[in-house]
This record gives sequence, C-alpha cells and structure tokens, in this order.
Amino acid sequence: MDALLEAALAVRKNAHAPFSHFSVGAAVEDSDGHIYTGCNVENATYGLTICAERVAVFKAISDGARRFTRVAVAADTEILTPPCGACRQILWEFCGDVELTLVNPRGKTEIFRLKDLFPRPFDASFL
Ligand code: THU
Repeated sequence: MDALLEAALAVRKNAHAPFSHFSVGAAVEDSDGHIYTGCNVENATYGLTICAERVAVFKAISDGARRFTRVAVAADTEILTPPCGACRQILWEFCGDVELTLVNPRGKTEIFRLKDLFPRPFDASFL
C-alpha cells in the first residue's frame, strides 16, 4: 500500500479518543515527499477536541512545510470517513485543491479532490 495511506493508518493507533472511541489518522505529503501525520486528540470538555487532519496540517506547518500534494484520512468505517467541515476549511487554507484519499484498515480507498468536497470556499482571496 502507498506510504501515505500506511502512515495515516499507523498514526490512527495513537488516537486519544476516550470519549467517542472513534479513532482517526491523517497524513499529509509535501512537495519534497515528506509525510506529516496526526491523530485525533479529544478533551473532557469535548469542544477542545482536535481532529486528526488539523493535527497533521499544523504539525507540517509548524515544521516549515508549505506546499502539499496529497492528504490521506484513515478511520475504521465501511462508508469511508471524510474530513469534517472545520477540517475542510483548514485543508483548503493550507493545501488548496489537494488530492484527498480516504482509507479504512481493510484497504478500501476512495480518492477525491478537496474542491469537490468543499465547493465555493471562503479564503484569503476575498480579503
Ligand atoms: N474526527 C477526526 O479526527 N477527523 C474526522 O475526519 C472526523 C472526526 C474525530 C473527532 C472526534 O475525536 C471523533 O473523530 C468523533 O467525532
């Protein structure tokens, strides 16, 4: 399997999800081929929970990465789990119309462009 998908599936095992018991992994690849990963990290207040996708993107940005080519999201569902609305906004901000692959532990995959999941986005072009 593709290294990016393997990375999303592997980091999913680090999810801190004692409240939802729903573990998610994400991986982003930059233009140099580096892979940055993230899992969901929940909080007892619920609202402070951060999704796997945002952890992966913020880790990448914090490490100095800027141009992204692909994103993968891993969860254990048959109908593959897509990014939530907040994560679509963040992915658009930093990755633009990136290729997005959803995957589950049985190797089922689906590939999208972010624009198809997040049409007519608000972004810095309006400011
Ligand atoms: N979650 C993610 O990490 N990414 C998604 O794409 C969907 C939802 C997390 C947030 C929360 O910890 C749990 O899954 C249930 O919503």
